[in-house]
Amino acid sequence: MKGKIGWGLLMAVGLGLLVGLGGVSLAGQGVEGTARADKLDACVQPTDFMRRSHFELIKHQRDITVHQGIRETDNSLAGCVDCHVRRDADGDHVAVNAPGEFCAGCHQYTATMLDCFTCHATKPVGD
Ligand code: HEC
Ligand code: HEC
Ligand code: HEC
Repeated sequence: MKGKIGWGLLMAVGLGLLVGLGGVSLAGQGVEGTARADKLDACVQPTDFMRRSHFELIKHQRDITVHQGIRETDNSLAGCVDCHVRRDADGDHVAVNAPGEFCAGCHQYTATMLDCFTCHATKPVGD
C-alpha cells in the first residue's frame, strides 16, 4: 500500500512537471500512437457501444468467469489491456490505469474507481 501511494505521488509530481514544462494537459507517460489500437479502425464492438457500455461487457464476463467457472471469453480484460496499452519514450509499457492513460483518462472525469487492477495486470504479461 505504501509503495502504491509513493508511486502515485511520484506520478502526480511527474505530471505536474509535464504540465509545467510543456503546457500539455493531462497527458500520460504513454507516447501517442504507440498502442496497438492506434493502428486499428475498430474495437471489439462498435465504438459507440464501447463508449457507453464497455463495462457491461467485461463485468458480465467477470461474473460468468468467477461465479460459474467459465473461462472461455470473447472479451478478456487482458485483451483490452493488450490493445490499448501505450509505451513510454523508452518503449516500456505504461499501465493502462496510470493517470492520463487509456482506462484512467476517461474515468478521472467521471470519478470512476476500478478495483479490477488490484488483481488484473495493467500491462501485457510477457511481451
Ligand atoms: C479479487 C480479485 C479480482 C478483482 C478485484 C477483479 N477480478 Fe476479474 N478475475 C479474477 C479472477 C480470479 C478471474 C479468473 C481468472 C482466470 O480465469 O484465469 C477473473 C476473470 C476476469 C475476466 C475474464 C478473464 C480475463 O482474463 O479477462 C474478466 C473480463 C474480468 N475478470 C474482469 C474484471 C473487471 C472488469 C474487474 C473490475 C470491475 C475485475 N475483473 C476485478 C479476479 C478478480
Ligand atoms: C484488437 C484491439 C482492441 C481490443 C482488444 C480492444 N479495443 Fe477498445 N478500441 C480499439 C480501437 C481501434 C478503438 C477506436 C475505434 C475508433 O476509432 O472508432 C477502440 C475504442 C475503445 C473505446 C472508445 C474510446 C473513445 O475514445 O471513445 C473504449 C471505451 C474501448 N475501446 C474499450 C475497450 C475495452 C474495455 C476492451 C476490452 C473488452 C477493448 N476496448 C478491447 C481497439 C481494441
Ligand atoms: C471513453 C471513456 C472511457 C474509456 C476510454 C474507458 N472507460 Fe470505463 N467507464 C467510463 C465511464 C463514463 C464509466 C462510468 C459509467 C457509469 O457509471 O454509468 C466507466 C465505467 C467503467 C467500469 C464500471 C465501474 C463500476 O464500478 O461500475 C469498468 C469496469 C470500466 N469502466 C472499465 C474500463 C477499462 C478496463 C477501460 C480500459 C480498457 C476503460 N474502462 C476505458 C468511460 C470510459
